[in-house]
Amino acid sequence: MKVTVVGAGNVGATCADVLAQREIANEIVLLDIKEGFAEGKALDIWQKSPINLYDSRTTGSTNDYSKTANSDVVVITSGLPRKPGMSRDDLIATNAGIVKTVTENIIQHSPDAIIIIVSNPLDVMTYCAYLNAKVDSSKVFGMAGVLDTARYRAFLAAELGVSPKDIQAVLMGGHGDTMVPLPRYTTVSGIPVTELISEEKLNEIIERTKFGGGEIVKLLGTSAWYAPGAAAAQMVEAIVRDQKRIFPVCAWLNGEYGMKDIYLGVPVVLGKNGIEKIIELQLNDAEKALLEESAVAVKSVMDVLDNMNANA
Ligand code: NAI
Ligand code: 2OP
Repeated sequence: MKVTVVGAGNVGATCADVLAQREIANEIVLLDIKEGFAEGKALDIWQKSPINLYDSRTTGSTNDYSKTANSDVVVITSGLPRKPGMSRDDLIATNAGIVKTVTENIIQHSPDAIIIIVSNPLDVMTYCAYLNAKVDSSKVFGMAGVLDTARYRAFLAAELGVSPKDIQAVLMGGHGDTMVPLPRYTTVSGIPVTELISEEKLNEIIERTKFGGGEIVKLLGTSAWYAPGAAAAQMVEAIVRDQKRIFPVCAWLNGEYGMKDIYLGVPVVLGKNGIEKIIELQLNDAEKALLEESAVAVKSVMDVLDNMNANA
């Protein structure tokens, strides 16, 4: 299996490192526009292989897409990260230009690739890649829910004093402050979380999750990379190993949840064909209202992209 990661910055290099370390693909190509940058990161990851004992071959390329030819999966992380005081939406114009060019190049050399978008603003960059890839939406989707759910699970594990491995949760909606963690679908080894934590504490954790990306930006002066890189790698693993994992993924909706023509975070089955099924949960009225609110927020940024494209 061959996996390309575009963008050898913090998230891209971390993703490539996890892919190599866990031998998720035997061939990993890291590509960046910055001269020598991807080659350097790839060489460093490869030189770690005798120490950490893996044989996935990692190579780098400065903007030469012929090196990415016939990739099975491509992760796109290229773009600017969010800086303090900057919202994800501020990034739209610059990152849309980057995602468009990258997607066109990728499809030219790997027409059958499954594409996972990481660049922000996530839901809209995924839409941008879909518009330019011109392939079925089951093969173009975004990583956000795996990360946001991981944050929610990590906060809960710390609060409850239990292993994060034992927290199962679903989170829906856009990758932004309107994301929708779902306490009704959150369990600790099968025990409903509401039996183990007060409503007040749970609400605090939900709020912290919604602003989890911003919390790291405030601390670091740039956005997170360890968890995002690992989250993207986990999605790649589900595809290349045909695991049929259920993950919240930014997916194109075509009537599911009563919504159409929008990219939004929903639970899906991920396997060798990409999104193999969108799972429709029986949301109650309050949950539906939150999801709709999130969809309105995402749609307003998708409209910005549509207007930019119409005026181009
Ligand atoms: P970074 O700045 O460390 O890396 C971005 C890399 O993209 C740089 O090395 C840059 O040279 C490269 N790049 C820029 N234009 C390019 C082009 N046309 N072709 C190839 N490479 C190009 O940024 P970082 O921290 O890795 O973040 C990457 C993106 O991921 C940002 O948009 C960030 O907001 C987003 N992000 C999304 C998350 C999510 O949950 N979806 C989580 C964390 C970050
Ligand atoms: C994050 O959630 C900023 O989207 C990035 O960490």
